[in-house]
Amino acid sequence: MSTAVPWHTDADMQASVARLRVALGDRPVPRVALLLGSGWGAAAEAVRDAVDVDYSQLPAFPELAVGGHAARVRLGTLGGRAVAVLMGRSHAYESGEAHAMRGAVRTLARLGCRVLVQTNAAGSLHTSMPPGSLMVLSDHLNLPQRSPLVHERDDSRFVDLRDAYDPALRALARRCAQARGLTLHEGVYAWVMGPQFETPAEIRMLRTLGADAVGMSTVPETILARHAGLRVLALSLVTNLACGVGDEALSHAHTLQAAQRAGADASALVQAIVAALDEPA
Ligand code: HPA
Repeated sequence: MSTAVPWHTDADMQASVARLRVALGDRPVPRVALLLGSGWGAAAEAVRDAVDVDYSQLPAFPELAVGGHAARVRLGTLGGRAVAVLMGRSHAYESGEAHAMRGAVRTLARLGCRVLVQTNAAGSLHTSMPPGSLMVLSDHLNLPQRSPLVHERDDSRFVDLRDAYDPALRALARRCAQARGLTLHEGVYAWVMGPQFETPAEIRMLRTLGADAVGMSTVPETILARHAGLRVLALSLVTNLACGVGDEALSHAHTLQAAQRAGADASALVQAIVAALDEPA
């Protein structure tokens, strides 16, 4: 079994951009990229005039392994706007490395994307934010203290993460939720390496540190996107109360089931946000 995460080259990214351009044909270049996590698949189904490209045809993209995750880029329009939707991400818990999505995020930036909308499934630290809730990330805690930029050489690696989650995009998300009568929580997402779920003591620690939700993704891609100059919006779908906050047992199957149940509201919100983005984004 190979566990090393490839370090994609410039040539890999160029070839990936070229392949996506072929798939685009004469459609407009997408300015908005979406990276969909568990339970957010309905957003991909809402894409019109869709053409799919498998990650396997994109040399800068990862090979995916986890059940329940697809591995395709879907090009098309969502809410009337040209988008590139990444269905499936590689997680740091597969390798211990944080840079698995580096080539994919940079490819999107090179293609012309200027905004990255990320979605994930998360555990909630508050009973007032029960399963089915939506949360827009205001900030994150990088608890594993891993970075996808470790091997970068130039000074651009010292990325400023103040307002990593774009305040104007967050305000837009709030307005879109309100217009739909959806409650949108806002809070701090704690990234944990996983793949095991947390202990009750760890969740108490996370609460003390100021976390509102906990999950195993998103943060590496936010760092990569900010490094590539993309504005980032990230949304969590709460699939469970974190360990010890509620009394249910946690499992990956439960996460996927809970995400699927709340997926319709979540996807409608994403669609509304994408439609309402300024052009050029
Ligand atoms: N912990 C970590 N990651 C998760 C959880 C959780 O409770 N729920 C969904 N992803």
